[in-house]
Amino acid sequence: SATEDQTVEFPIPAGVFAERVISVTHYTDNLFAFRITRPQSFRFRSGEFVMIGLPNAAKPVFRAYSIASPSWDEELEFFSIKVADGPLTQHLQKIQPGDTVLMRQKSTGTLVHDALLPGKRLYMISTGTGIAPFASLVRDPETYEKFDEVILTHTCRDVAELKYGEELIADTREDPLIGELTEGRLKHFASTTREASPEMGRITTLIENGRLFEALGTEPLNREVDRVMICGSMAMIKDVKELVEKAGLKEGSNSEPADFVVERAFVG
Ligand code: A2P
Repeated sequence: SATEDQTVEFPIPAGVFAERVISVTHYTDNLFAFRITRPQSFRFRSGEFVMIGLPNAAKPVFRAYSIASPSWDEELEFFSIKVADGPLTQHLQKIQPGDTVLMRQKSTGTLVHDALLPGKRLYMISTGTGIAPFASLVRDPETYEKFDEVILTHTCRDVAELKYGEELIADTREDPLIGELTEGRLKHFASTTREASPEMGRITTLIENGRLFEALGTEPLNREVDRVMICGSMAMIKDVKELVEKAGLKEGSNSEPADFVVERAFVG
């Protein structure tokens, strides 16, 4: 258990913040979200990731986690899978409020506004825990300053796995700080691939057959106006990237902003 893991105390490694768990929400047997305290000095750009670990070994295991909270939030939020034999998540899934989580001090990543040229419409395409960086970006006012329309797609195997995203969108629309900014401009498209739901199919299929654009009331991808951020498994990224490139969009980076960016969601 987490308590057993943490009875033995190891020194906090250099260059690492030791933060306190504030809350933990379990969504399914395989998914949970948690919030930790935010160090006063820690700055990041919405969409970036940090390295997370636990103080349960002299040399803790660290894994990349997208920060799911926006940069104005006083706390830090993360959305994680649980893997029974995952070096980190087998322990991390047991954390409770009051426990300590380690975080390396520098954040980084490509799913950031700096890596995209201005556009009219931003598509954030995610599968599974790949929604995490977008949970940060949909709550960032800059997203609505840069784009007229903000579209979040989330595809999971089962309906229960969509809940984090549904709550995120509902809470964002109600948020006293940015709710008003999102009015009529934030769109959510969710689909499942292995359990019946109102929208079914892989996002690649739904882009190819046009269902995504039909459901959103938008036009097919167009380099003139559309920008795309992609986050999911390696295979998902490869396949979505191919479709986006077929539509003529070019991949951007922090040093050379362009039309779309990709990042692999954390696994294991
Ligand atoms: P599917 O159920 O058809 O595999 P995973 O948990 O494997 O990362 O999958 C999360 C979601 O991403 C599932 O709905 C899955 O669909 C979908 N997915 C997996 N691989 C791809 C891919 N190459 N392109 C698009 N969607 C994918």
